[in-house]
Amino acid sequence: MNASLDRFAPQPCALPNPVYAGPMTWRVLELFAGLGGWRLAFRGIGSVVAAYDISPHANATYALNHGERPRARELASVPIRELAAHGADTWALSPPCQPTCRMGLKRDLEDPRSKAFLHLLEVLAEAPPERLVLENVAGFPGSGSHARLVALLERLGFQRADLLLCPTALGIPNQRPRFYLIAARHPVRLMAPEPLEPAPLAPYLDPESDPDLILSPEEVARFGPGLDLVEPTDKRSTCFIGGYGQRYVGSGSFLRLEDGRLRRFSPAEVARLLGYPEGFRFPEPLPREARYKLLGNGLSLPAARWIVENLISSAPA
Ligand SMILES: C[S@@+](CC[C@H](N)C(=O)[O-])C[C@H]1O[C@@H](n2cnc3c(N)ncnc32)[C@H](O)[C@@H]1O
Repeated sequence: MNASLDRFAPQPCALPNPVYAGPMTWRVLELFAGLGGWRLAFRGIGSVVAAYDISPHANATYALNHGERPRARELASVPIRELAAHGADTWALSPPCQPTCRMGLKRDLEDPRSKAFLHLLEVLAEAPPERLVLENVAGFPGSGSHARLVALLERLGFQRADLLLCPTALGIPNQRPRFYLIAARHPVRLMAPEPLEPAPLAPYLDPESDPDLILSPEEVARFGPGLDLVEPTDKRSTCFIGGYGQRYVGSGSFLRLEDGRLRRFSPAEVARLLGYPEGFRFPEPLPREARYKLLGNGLSLPAARWIVENLISSAPA
């Protein structure tokens, strides 16, 4: 285990919660694990009994930071009995968003990338956990995937609640509106936070600008007019997508330096805005583009933690 990640101590429960009185021992199955965002969001509440992800880059980064390598498996073909054998009582999942993403083709259930999600619905029907939490893009409700999930949860007698939450409401200067759903065998609720004024970007920035991040005059001439530009005193930035390392307009904000030059945010800065602890690392020599891709797929940890706390808060005594 990367000792520095231990500094990411669980925050005290921010919600009124007469039940939660110390560490909980939920057994979490982390599906589409990526960087392990759900693992961090569940810290002190539950431990991951198994994680699954098909990406070698994600799994190497996960192993470096969490000390355990996820199972590198195509989830569509993991047998029900294998998933059930972990004895998880909690599922945490962030299925790939491309089938419903605003930038994708929106083929929804026809998209081959929905196959794993559809398989997991079969597993859910056969071996349901006590509770689950799901994160996806804002366009997920209204999709066929969402409709299938909701119909199944109703058939299984689960109660559910959902919330569109952006970390800006939690005081983070980064837009990342995401759809969250929680479900359990008891009544659940998802409260929206009292919106906080976002903080300035300055504390999230690296002390020195990496010269490799600075845009060339040619890039500025070609893409500058369409870029979302921010300064360290600004209290906002746009959502950083997986393609931020290669794309310009609509991929995330760019920083205007004091001398007028423009640069990308570094992966470390994006990670800080997503709430990753300072000790979070990428394996060397993972290229910068791959780091942006993993982060662009990742969770906002403060938002995910808010959702998990709501789930605890609605747990019966
Ligand atoms: C939206 S990301 C999840 C991010 C994650 N919650 C985090 O904290 O970083 C989706 C992840 O699912 C993985 N994935 C996509 N399709 C998969 C499949 N069929 N089987 C296993 N993993 C898959 C991708 O490699 C990616 O890491």
